Amino acid sequence: MAEIGKDIAKAKALLKKGKLVAIPTETVYGLAANATNADAVARIFEAKNRPSFDPLIVHVPDLHAVKRYADNLPLKALALASAFWPGPVTILFKKKDIIPDIVTSGLDTVGIRCPNHPITRALLEELDFPLAAPSANPFGYISPTTPEHVNEQLGDKIAYILDGGPCTIGIESTIVGFHNDQATVYRLGGLGIEEIEKVIGTVGIMLHSSSNPQAPGQLKSHYAPSRRLIIGNLDQALSGEVNPNVAVLSFQKDYKVQYQFILSSAGDLTEAAKNLFLGLRTLDKMPVDAILTDLVPEQGLGRAINDRLRRAAAEQ
Ligand code: TXA
Ligand code: MG
Repeated sequence: MAEIGKDIAKAKALLKKGKLVAIPTETVYGLAANATNADAVARIFEAKNRPSFDPLIVHVPDLHAVKRYADNLPLKALALASAFWPGPVTILFKKKDIIPDIVTSGLDTVGIRCPNHPITRALLEELDFPLAAPSANPFGYISPTTPEHVNEQLGDKIAYILDGGPCTIGIESTIVGFHNDQATVYRLGGLGIEEIEKVIGTVGIMLHSSSNPQAPGQLKSHYAPSRRLIIGNLDQALSGEVNPNVAVLSFQKDYKVQYQFILSSAGDLTEAAKNLFLGLRTLDKMPVDAILTDLVPEQGLGRAINDRLRRAAAEQ
């Protein structure tokens, strides 16, 4: 198991040596390494068992840092970053050579974001390199929103887990790319489309490409628990006699079943997003054959929640 602590100097020293450190962000915990060191980045892929075609997000302390790693910065992209950084949006920029190809899986764009967590921002400000960090989970499994989640799954593969408490947003960043000033969302996430459109106007959405995904967050099956997740109508499914071998992940309602996790009894989508991965993880440990769930309202963070539920339910 890895050591969990709040020692920024220790994290810094390990990262400078090319080691892996798990870092807190407002979205999910990341598995970080020096983004300019290809060997260090290779260890991320190894630890996560992540296919090399799945590019990593690069984390920077602020907007100024972007021009060290990217050029041709579109005006709308800068407007988006100024409005929402630090925050849960990743922007795809044309990459400079200082970012090794392994980070971007050979793509000529690099995803960059400035995370909104005081500990990780303090760490980034102390480093003279940016941090490549995917979510700190084995590839395809549920993303971690506490230091303990990271330790459970990757504890024996990493040097240190920086403890920033539970993540406040709980769902990964929204990914936005630009072509000739036209914005496209490639992954729904912690920043709602409505918020983005208020700043840069209408955006396109491209969430699925089955063969060569531009973002494996786009892979049909992802974010998955080990138990089967079934999406249905909970009111209907739970009206008669309930199969004792199922657990229920509900948005708001209490179905009075033995194994149940309610995402937000107040019916608040922000709270539900924050609890989503914890709910899946908790139910995944119950002695059941399957987890039943329902989609949440398709608005704001609800769209990202439904996206994750659909991918988690997709056949491997
Ligand atoms: O909130 C987040 O984004 C978290 C925290 C740790 O920052 N990170 C995260 O990383 O979710 P990861 O690796 O689990 O998901 C990153 C997604 C992947 O689906 C990847 O394909 C996509 O970002 N991505 C990264 N660079 C890309 C690029 N140049 N073009 C298209 N997609 C890219
Ligand atoms: Mg991930």
